[in-house]
Amino acid sequence: MKMKRISFLPALAVLGLVMLAACSTPDGQPQANSEPVAPSQVSDFDTLYAQNCAGCHGAEGRGGASIALANPVYLAIVDESTMRNIVANGVHGTSMPAFVQSAGGMLTEQQIEVITSGIFSRWGRKQVLDGANPPSYAAKAAGKVDHGQLVFGVYCASCHGSEGAGTPKGSAITNDSFLALVSDQGLRTIVITGRPELGAPDWRGNVPGRPMTDQEITDVVSWLVSRRAENPGQPYSALNDAQQSKAQHPEK
Ligand code: HEC
Ligand code: HEC
Repeated sequence: MKMKRISFLPALAVLGLVMLAACSTPDGQPQANSEPVAPSQVSDFDTLYAQNCAGCHGAEGRGGASIALANPVYLAIVDESTMRNIVANGVHGTSMPAFVQSAGGMLTEQQIEVITSGIFSRWGRKQVLDGANPPSYAAKAAGKVDHGQLVFGVYCASCHGSEGAGTPKGSAITNDSFLALVSDQGLRTIVITGRPELGAPDWRGNVPGRPMTDQEITDVVSWLVSRRAENPGQPYSALNDAQQSKAQHPEK
């Protein structure tokens, strides 16, 4: 709650300044720059980020319902054009919206460029993975589900439980409600970069001294994906069917 409120403050502050500026002209004539900026003309990173992203990714990119974007490890793995494309078009099947006007969003291409390049220049640290041989952002090959289950046991079960149902050290990640709302890449991103803002380790830290290989990451994501229910919106459909047929044929 606190974080969400804070995220509106910059927008309010800007509005306040605009109003002050408008009132401070003695003769009532509008000053240059005193007119409110049309939404499509806002070109300041802080305002654009606060208004469009902070609600889910946190004030200053520090994370919220979704991952922290101010994560240098993440910013060293994803490239700018990939991010620009995600911000423009959203992630289908998740709550990550499309922002570009041509995809039904509210932002111009230039505004998306300001946000994307600003995220990298503010929060990226180019050398952070020097010498680390990081895995690739996107999966390079198909995953092996069976092997992924073994990988999960080695690297994840200590915190998330042997079946991923959660422990006090890590939440449930194989339940339908979580898996239904996250994309395959979203899972891969979290396995690679962790969620440092919540204490989740990156691919090097699950088992100290034993970084995961690219293939292990691909396989463990495949195993998680294999646990996703096919019709997550209708978990009670079998029950409903049974009740309906009972109502129609009460003699049975
Ligand atoms: C309503 C919530 C919401 C808002 C608002 C939102 N995001 Fe997201 N975003 C998400 C979720 C959820 C995901 C994870 C989607 C998935 O599972 O792949 C995500 C994913 C992303 C990713 C991809 C992470 C990866 O796996 O590489 C980027 C980049 C991103 N968001 C940037 C932004 C930016 C920049 C803004 C503002 C212009 C923004 N988001 C606004 C919810 C949101
Ligand atoms: C040292 C403990 C630890 C280990 C090992 C670990 N995690 Fe986590 N993980 C966490 C914590 C802490 C979080 C963030 C808070 C939470 O969701 O419990 C987290 C979050 C996640 C999330 C996001 C959950 C959400 O609700 O957004 C996923 C997905 C995830 N971990 C997958 C994995 C996978 C897959 C592995 C093994 C490759 C793994 N984790 C290993 C501690 C761990």
